[in-house]
Amino acid sequence: MKDQVREVYRTCVSEGSLNLSRARISFGRRLAEELGYPEEVLRDIPESHWNTFAGCGNPWPHVKVKPCWKILDVGCGSGIDAVTASRYLAPGGLVVGIDFVHEMIDACRRLAESLPPYRRCCMYFLEGDGEGLPFRANTFDLVVCNGVLSLFEAKKRALEEIYRVLKNGGTLVVCDLIRLCALPQYFYECGDSWSWCMLGAPSRVEIENLFKDVGFSTVRFSWGRAMDYFGRATVTGVKKSG
Ligand SMILES: C[S@@+](CC[C@H](N)C(=O)[O-])C[C@H]1O[C@@H](n2cnc3c(N)ncnc32)[C@H](O)[C@@H]1O
Repeated sequence: MKDQVREVYRTCVSEGSLNLSRARISFGRRLAEELGYPEEVLRDIPESHWNTFAGCGNPWPHVKVKPCWKILDVGCGSGIDAVTASRYLAPGGLVVGIDFVHEMIDACRRLAESLPPYRRCCMYFLEGDGEGLPFRANTFDLVVCNGVLSLFEAKKRALEEIYRVLKNGGTLVVCDLIRLCALPQYFYECGDSWSWCMLGAPSRVEIENLFKDVGFSTVRFSWGRAMDYFGRATVTGVKKSG
């Protein structure tokens, strides 16, 4: 499944658009507007870059970022959340985006280059797998994961990795599709429904249990827009202090 997901997103970024699929997926600037991304962020991003934004929510209203924070964006895609994060940071703060598609990381770096130096100097992007994060334990104050958890086959392992790299008291914000009921057979037959965050989407109970199983102490759940079989949701967890 991982190879298939990688290939889908590699093709998207190479084509400069996510509109490759027969699936009715929302993406781009219109999606960001619908999700309530701040006006300044919408202005920051060049028009040509928006076509590769495929978040499942907007993590930023769910957390109060401190300017000195170290933030990790797992499955950063083309970097919209990393750019958003950089707006909240001051010198000393840091945002790192990681994605396993090399071409996505290239796109993030090009996007960072288009920003003023004082903004781009706190942003780093690297190629890597979210299921095995190349960071020391207790590194980040905040991890965001927007439209990515449902793509992991090993969801518990991915959350354990995030838990490991979070500092004690640090926050994880996951935005994703949540499965509302059993899926009809055609989701299993459509080759790319996993890659569009559908077939691998957990139910509310599954995702809350995963958060608790890996050790998150406070788990908050917030619904966004509901569609036929899925709802957009934001799940926030806090790593136990000490
Ligand atoms: C639906 S897109 C969301 C991208 C981005 N977060 C956004 O909001 O636009 C999913 C992203 O997760 C990345 N991804 C999927 N599985 C991954 C993994 N195991 N490790 C790292 N990145 C992964 C994909 O390459 C893709 O860029």
